[in-house]
Amino acid sequence: MTEQQFIPQTYSNDIFNGSVAWESPSNIALIKYWGKKQDQIPENPSISFTLNNCKTTTVLTYAKKENAEDFDFKVFLDGEHKPDFEPKIETFFKRIEVYVPFLKLFQFKIETTNTFPHSSGIASSASGMSALALCLMSIEKELQPEMTSEFFNKKASFLARLGSGSACRSIEGDLIVWGENETVQGSSDLFGVKYPYEVHDNFKHYQDTILLVDKGEKQVSSTVGHNLMHGHPFAKQRFMQAHENLSTLKTILKSGDLDAFISLVESEALTLHAMMMTSMPYFILMKPNTLEVINKIWAFRKRTGLHIGFTLDAGANVHILYPKEEKDAILDFIKTDLKGHCQNGQFICDEIGFGAKQLIINN
Ligand code: PMV
Repeated sequence: MTEQQFIPQTYSNDIFNGSVAWESPSNIALIKYWGKKQDQIPENPSISFTLNNCKTTTVLTYAKKENAEDFDFKVFLDGEHKPDFEPKIETFFKRIEVYVPFLKLFQFKIETTNTFPHSSGIASSASGMSALALCLMSIEKELQPEMTSEFFNKKASFLARLGSGSACRSIEGDLIVWGENETVQGSSDLFGVKYPYEVHDNFKHYQDTILLVDKGEKQVSSTVGHNLMHGHPFAKQRFMQAHENLSTLKTILKSGDLDAFISLVESEALTLHAMMMTSMPYFILMKPNTLEVINKIWAFRKRTGLHIGFTLDAGANVHILYPKEEKDAILDFIKTDLKGHCQNGQFICDEIGFGAKQLIINN
């Protein structure tokens, strides 16, 4: 598909006012997206587990307005008006206007809540942008009821990508690939697709316990981080490595080889941080407690033979990944040995999920 195919020709219906609502999850990348071209086109393919519990709920209320000159919207988080969030949404609207040409025809109220604590260091951009993109698609579906659900999901992912790259991987589950790669049929730079191959039962109910090591504001925005991959001395190698890792992961996902899975995923996490440490300017997002946790995970794995591994986002928090069968022992370990390294002892238990859900609103 091309971008052009997401530009609607005409709408068959007219609508005036109403509300739509979606609940959309966060996701955690196994192979990381870090580096982009214009319009959030990724420099390399990525693949993620969709999460189940960390999610954003967005209610989008719309009312036809008199003139169609400007965008007109207000953003509320947990019921409180948040003017600070509005420039980001304005940028998003400008970027997607050509694909959803009804944006200036309505006045919008965007009401959003997250299940995870605000400023927990867990990025709300993936769940937040995907929830908003899905709401806009629900309005487009009202304007064009004959739209297929396949097109609906693709375009929701396409729009979400223009809000925040990784958000395009939050529409569906449980494993989503984004970025063209020759070993994954149907993969695209424009939107995320469901991983189309066999996945071993070992990965079916994978757990992700997120340790909130540092809840502070991110030192570096992901936009700045992605841009630092331009002219980065190791960029070319890194982008090639991500392609190779995806092809290796395909074999691992089929065979169920948990040790190989852990090695590949941990290496990806550390490579992401290595890229940050070797950019100019350079930065370190891991905190002393991140390293403490990693070392304890390694020692515990060695001692017990359990399949516990970690991954990291662009921050200090640690995502602990493990198969459901080993949950009891690993949760015990987290509570006794790792909880003390989390701010206020906080961690969030999550697991693989199956994507966003529409919520029924009585208009
Ligand atoms: O979607 P962005 O622009 O916030 O970038 C996210 C990048 C990482 O979370 C570090 C990796 C990924 O693939 O999700």
